[in-house]
Amino acid sequence: MSGFSADWLSLRADADARARSARITARTAAWALARTRVTGRPLAIADLGCGTGSNLRFLAPRLPVAQRWLLADHDPDLLALAARSGAGCRRIRELDVVAVDLAAAPLDDLLADADLVTASALFDLVAPGWIVRLMAALARPGRALLAVLSYDGRMTLSAADPFDAVVRRLVNRHQRTDKGFGAALGPLAADWLCRHARLSGAHVLTALSDWQLGPGEAELQQALLAGWAEAACAIAPREADAIAAWHARRLETLRRQGLTSVVGHRDVLAWW
Ligand SMILES: C[S@@+](CC[C@H](N)C(=O)[O-])C[C@H]1O[C@@H](n2cnc3c(N)ncnc32)[C@H](O)[C@@H]1O
Repeated sequence: MSGFSADWLSLRADADARARSARITARTAAWALARTRVTGRPLAIADLGCGTGSNLRFLAPRLPVAQRWLLADHDPDLLALAARSGAGCRRIRELDVVAVDLAAAPLDDLLADADLVTASALFDLVAPGWIVRLMAALARPGRALLAVLSYDGRMTLSAADPFDAVVRRLVNRHQRTDKGFGAALGPLAADWLCRHARLSGAHVLTALSDWQLGPGEAELQQALLAGWAEAACAIAPREADAIAAWHARRLETLRRQGLTSVVGHRDVLAWW
């Protein structure tokens, strides 16, 4: 339904966990502690576009407070897996899932109870207007937004190939196409988010959270190359042969000597 399979989300989960900014995670944990000291109740957290719950699996053990989670996604199959994602974390007092199209949902209602709204690898899919609506729903004293792993347009591969730059440009154009919210922000997401959070009165902290992939992650890199080739072809079908040749060369390098790659991401924490 969403185009994000559980297999793909599982394949990227380790790279995501390694990439996340330790500084932003630590600042979120300190904010959570301060917030629960004020409210005297478990921290209410809403995870938007939760997939199978990998954001919760990363974050819950690192927040030193009791927690109530609401996991939201429009894909019922992913949500069924997410419903089990809190197992084993003693700090989670409640976990609810909700099937919702975030592009259409009234965000005020969905987020009414949340102290912390979070999302992982979602914001590059959304349109500028959706972030404006989110800010209007969120910007109240005592609340925070943690948006991690937004792709920022950088991708570099070892053993550089002259066609890499063409593919990167096409992929970045594909990133800007409609993913269900209207024309997506793609690589502009983190900058747009920071600007609008500040305009709404938030304090903002941002940091790089790049994927650093080595030869040991051949399966993930293979999936990435396939996804990039497909996205590039969708934008420039007349370049299909050149893209297929690039894809074949890159797979050959991966197979023979391994690749290292960097995929640029940003984490953002905003608090009001
Ligand atoms: C790149 S995946 C990230 C999943 C998860 N946050 C993670 O980090 O593993 C994007 C997620 O957003 C969800 N999504 C995309 N568009 C959505 C929409 N309009 N409403 C609700 N969920 C959506 C997808 O189903 C998918 O689970």
